[in-house]
Amino acid sequence: MSEEGITAERRSEERDTAERRRQSRDVFVEFRDVTKSYGTKEVLKGASLKIYRGEVVVILGASGTGKSVTLRNILGLEAPDSGAVIVEGEDITNLPEEELYRVRKKFGMLFQSGALFDSMNVFDNVAYPLREHSELTEEDLTRVVKEKLEMVNLPDAEHLMPVDLSGGMRKRVGLARSIVLDPKMILYDEPTTGLDPITSHKINELIVTLQSKLSVTSVVVTHDIQSAFSIGDRIAFLNEGIFEWVGTMEEARDSDHPVLREFLQTSAVMAAQPTK
Ligand SMILES: Nc1ncnc2c1ncn2[C@@H]1O[C@H](COP(=O)(O)OP(=O)(O)O)[C@@H](O)[C@H]1O
Ligand SMILES: [Mg+2]
Repeated sequence: MSEEGITAERRSEERDTAERRRQSRDVFVEFRDVTKSYGTKEVLKGASLKIYRGEVVVILGASGTGKSVTLRNILGLEAPDSGAVIVEGEDITNLPEEELYRVRKKFGMLFQSGALFDSMNVFDNVAYPLREHSELTEEDLTRVVKEKLEMVNLPDAEHLMPVDLSGGMRKRVGLARSIVLDPKMILYDEPTTGLDPITSHKINELIVTLQSKLSVTSVVVTHDIQSAFSIGDRIAFLNEGIFEWVGTMEEARDSDHPVLREFLQTSAVMAAQPTK
């Protein structure tokens, strides 16, 4: 079977599991009627969404609709103006910073920029969260860092500096760092934006592989429709400050929701344009 065929088959098995979890209503994160403004600009206007344990939710939406803001609210890096963010049954909306610190350990975040420390080599970048947040001996720490670098298919990159890495490698290092504390949920902000199609495909493959190896829950923010359909269990379409449409990939394909359809069609046409 081709590599793509294997991925597709594995995805469908995983979707079955995610579907079963969804039916058992095991909610990992809930956004309840969240509003968020910056100055006079209302970005989120009563956004509600449930993310079930074990699934991959893709947040789709045009640029500037509040996708990154949504991720920052899940992480407790910013708080809603009104409404609530619930993580594993705990309302984190008004938690003090020292409590949020505990909640944040549940999450691994892959920032859009990769956000590596340019002055540290790959090993030290990945080791950083362990040095900050764990009491591991240097020997155990080395073992964990090597294990995570292998997981993202970068076994021999330890001594490289960020400046020597390609865009795809930077993402992989960022990803190794985001999973180093064994998070229950991984948040990805535009993981394939700015990468060429082959590298994007490899990153998508990696997201799917990690999903099953680590049994995590994932939220992927993207405007890359192809990625969305190859990795997601469900789409949450963010438009005009709310999750205007939420459903499975199959439902999204068949949906006659006019704004979602237009978004999917426009994005597909854009993706088919040759890039310079
Ligand atoms: N810290 C901030 N201060 C002021 N405006 C912000 C801030 N963060 C986000 N915004 C505004 O909120 C809107 C949504 O931003 P963002 O979530 O980054 O969009 P995207 O969907 O592209 O990720 C944008 O108009 C942005 O300018
Ligand atoms: Mg963004």
